[in-house]
Amino acid sequence: MVALSVSQAVASRRSIRAFTDRAVDGGLLRELLDKARQAPSGGNVQPWHVAVLTGARLARLVEETRAAMLNPDSRESPEYRIYPEGLPDPWRARRSANGEALYASIGVEREDRMGRMAQISKNFEFFGAPVGLLIHTPDFMGKPQWADLGMWLQTFMLLLTEAGLGSCAQEAWSAYPQTVKRIGEVPDDHIFFCGMAIGYPNPDAPINSFANPRAPLDETVRFLDD
Ligand SMILES: Cc1cc2nc3c(=O)[nH]c(=O)nc-3n(C[C@H](O)[C@H](O)[C@H](O)COP(=O)(O)O)c2cc1C
Repeated sequence: MVALSVSQAVASRRSIRAFTDRAVDGGLLRELLDKARQAPSGGNVQPWHVAVLTGARLARLVEETRAAMLNPDSRESPEYRIYPEGLPDPWRARRSANGEALYASIGVEREDRMGRMAQISKNFEFFGAPVGLLIHTPDFMGKPQWADLGMWLQTFMLLLTEAGLGSCAQEAWSAYPQTVKRIGEVPDDHIFFCGMAIGYPNPDAPINSFANPRAPLDETVRFLDD
């Protein structure tokens, strides 16, 4: 297999939300996680902590989260807000465009609340992926260290892409921090940031191939006069 260039890996990585049954080799996963240690971070602090779940442990998380979801008495308190309250445009519009494109790819109409809920609930099964990660950091870490978590995430996702694996980072799991932390043995004084589903992409699933364009360069980058 010819290795992808960095540009090719960046261009071809996309969130994968449907996987084949093919198992992920444990040695390969370890090798990629080992390479991802090279991600940069402010002061080289390396604030990322990662739990790798497979097999019975992953199944237990899925099962117990489903139980928590169905039990109105076990409402969990998220440890952070995923989006700012009242997120204005253009960010709000970008977020809805992503949702529209995703739901259109699986034939779920705008008014189909149940259809949307069904797709959202697949988050809590790691979209059927054979590997699930839980990413967390000590709760005293600040915004700069949270940004470093993103550095690690993208570094690792590009390495997965190079290895032919698909992934989807998942903030959705932050809705169930207590269950996630219990099953993932995350220390109490850590904040759970996100999950990640990992496996071999199902090439036939439309949800893996809808267009999700980015804002034009001039909307996010300003080239200032000399
Ligand atoms: C930190 C982070 C958390 C995310 N959480 C979720 C999630 O909970 N569920 C989901 O379906 N997608 C999730 N995504 C995927 C984004 O929706 C996706 O990255 C974005 O729409 C861009 O599409 P692409 O990854 O296919 O290029 C997350 C992405 C990131 C970086």
